[in-house]
Amino acid sequence: MVTARAPLVVKLFGEHAVVYGYHAIAGAINLKIIARVELQSQGYLIESNLGVERLESLWTEKVKHKYVVKALQVFSQDVLGRDVDPVKITIRSPAPPSCGLATSAAVSVAVISALSKLYNAGLSKTEIARMGHKVETLVQGRASPMDTYTSTLGGLVLVCPQENRLVKIQDVERLDLSIVLARRARSTRELVHTVYRIYSRYREIVEKIFILIDTICLEALEALRRRDTEKLGMLMYTNHMLLSSLGVSNALIDYLISCLRERGARGAKLSGAGDGGTIVVLGRLTREIEQTAREVLRERYVSAMRHIDVDNQGVEVRD
Ligand code: PMV
Repeated sequence: MVTARAPLVVKLFGEHAVVYGYHAIAGAINLKIIARVELQSQGYLIESNLGVERLESLWTEKVKHKYVVKALQVFSQDVLGRDVDPVKITIRSPAPPSCGLATSAAVSVAVISALSKLYNAGLSKTEIARMGHKVETLVQGRASPMDTYTSTLGGLVLVCPQENRLVKIQDVERLDLSIVLARRARSTRELVHTVYRIYSRYREIVEKIFILIDTICLEALEALRRRDTEKLGMLMYTNHMLLSSLGVSNALIDYLISCLRERGARGAKLSGAGDGGTIVVLGRLTREIEQTAREVLRERYVSAMRHIDVDNQGVEVRD
């Protein structure tokens, strides 16, 4: 049996704009997807908090575990040149799916890493990240490489899509962050499409919004390096307002962010595709702030984590 652990990812700056080629900053965090892979005599068995799924063939259409099955298919085609042998795959996640923490990217990365070990394929981290990105693109239609690369490499990552480059931000070891999880009504795919619609219709304006997000991202890089948390917080609030202008927030989230600002949170924004999912807050959440989140979000409230750390390891595999 092989076990792989891949970190979840918060989007600190630049989500959505990154899909159009602008910079983004993401961070791997100390919450990890665990994927266990073991050979079995026949068929494929996948277990996760989505349920249990048995498949006779890897090429079955309409499966519940889309990312796991696509990862098995991509590994079969690109690495083995034949189907992966019958396996049982167990996935454990510390967060619900589709909550803006890149659970799908981390699942893809963990499964590919475990398969690489099981078959002694010796894939490098860059190859794992590239295959993880392929899985996401095949399942979602459009995806930036941000989540899969950050989960694979770990740490804080600056994504530079125009140069086809991801740079690990070396000189920031710690960042005090908290997260609030809120139930989403729209999927990542729908939200990416929402932005595409508004972009196609009001291209000149939306491009200017993306350029502003890009500037915020590069300013944030400097602020991170200088540990200028005041500026970092201001940039988070500004990035949030711009995301909201793109139609990916909602009234509850915007109200919550305003309340957090009034109650002294240093910075806060939506993280990920939007409409809930993750709200990332700079610094530790006080009980008062956590209570505010509960009251504002009501039935959309899922949970809050008062302190999360940056994970610097990236994906790890053990026999
Ligand atoms: O909500 P998530 O974790 O699926 O993040 C999506 C991030 C986007 O920038 C909106 C899309 C992407 O592929 O980068």
